[in-house]
Amino acid sequence: MSDRDFVHVLGIESSCDEMACAVVRDGREILASVVHSQEDVHRPYGGVVPELASRDHVRAVSSVALRALAESGLAFEDVDGVAVTSGPGLVGSLLVGLSFGKALAYRLGVPVVGVHHLVGHLMSAELARPDLAPPYLGLVVSGGHTALYRVHREGTDLLGETRDDAVGEAFDKVAVLLGLGFPGGPAVSAAAREGDASAVAFPRPMLEHPGLDFSYSGLKTAVALEVEARGGTDALSPGDVADVAASFEAAATDVLVRRARKAVRQEGLAAVAVVGGVAANRRLRSEMARVGRRHGFDVVFPPPELCTDNAAMIAAAGARLLRRGVRDELHLNAFSRAPIG
Ligand code: KG4
Ligand code: ZN
Repeated sequence: MSDRDFVHVLGIESSCDEMACAVVRDGREILASVVHSQEDVHRPYGGVVPELASRDHVRAVSSVALRALAESGLAFEDVDGVAVTSGPGLVGSLLVGLSFGKALAYRLGVPVVGVHHLVGHLMSAELARPDLAPPYLGLVVSGGHTALYRVHREGTDLLGETRDDAVGEAFDKVAVLLGLGFPGGPAVSAAAREGDASAVAFPRPMLEHPGLDFSYSGLKTAVALEVEARGGTDALSPGDVADVAASFEAAATDVLVRRARKAVRQEGLAAVAVVGGVAANRRLRSEMARVGRRHGFDVVFPPPELCTDNAAMIAAAGARLLRRGVRDELHLNAFSRAPIG
């Protein structure tokens, strides 16, 4: 098989609490994308419990892969390569998808390639908008990451990142403070729709600092103090919850929009791709689009199902690597942290 023949790539993603498999044709067309979520497993704990996540992945992996293949209309023999997230993430969770992917590739006699989770997220923008051409600004906003990249043809350069919590993590922690449960981001966003975003003047962390870094732990503490001043989580009225949620969401997303605008100007770029779970946020989507129109840069948001963890983005990123001749050996291991590249 020549390097250009990777028509059908099967992708596997299990870096956190989603087990996902997908089949992508020619690196661009999604034939199937199945995501098995573990929300019910972790809801009682208010956050992801790593040991429970990996055990659930073991139970789910085969059936999720079989479903993806069935939905794609292909047979295993049609798969030309396997792409699997090798990190960063929860190592126990990663190892389930990785072991399955390596075993499958070995059995089928096709190459396997490990994909960096954030490269996968960045690829979701190109999957959604095939005309998006590098260089562009990539803003990755998820439960584990908040970072700005200059994406160019040869790779990515980190421009700025969070010094403490990720923005998705802040959404999840604020959800707990507001008694909204798990998963936090969508719950805070839904509550915010009923509230007044100017009710509480929360800080816009780091905006007065030079550079392009972020910080979310101070904002989370400010929300905790506000909840305390209103009598604590159990004393909050639905109106309190809505106002605090709306004010927090405004502060958290405002920082992302202003940092992106600064980075676009500084780097002389014409487009911003916003990817990762928090890119599903309605306020972030509308504000970024408004600022993009006003300042003349293109704003790309993948559809929500490509923003949260999925395997189509991993298959697409893997297809690109395989076509460039990148391969991994069967001793490919999982890693919990590492920068792109
Ligand atoms: O990319 P992702 O699915 O997993 C990671 O790689 O972390 O992102 C999950 C994060 C969670 O923190 C979740 O609360 C947040 O994305 N999230 C949202 C929304 N939907 C998911 N945050 C704000 N608004 C949303 N609508
Ligand atoms: Zn992710």
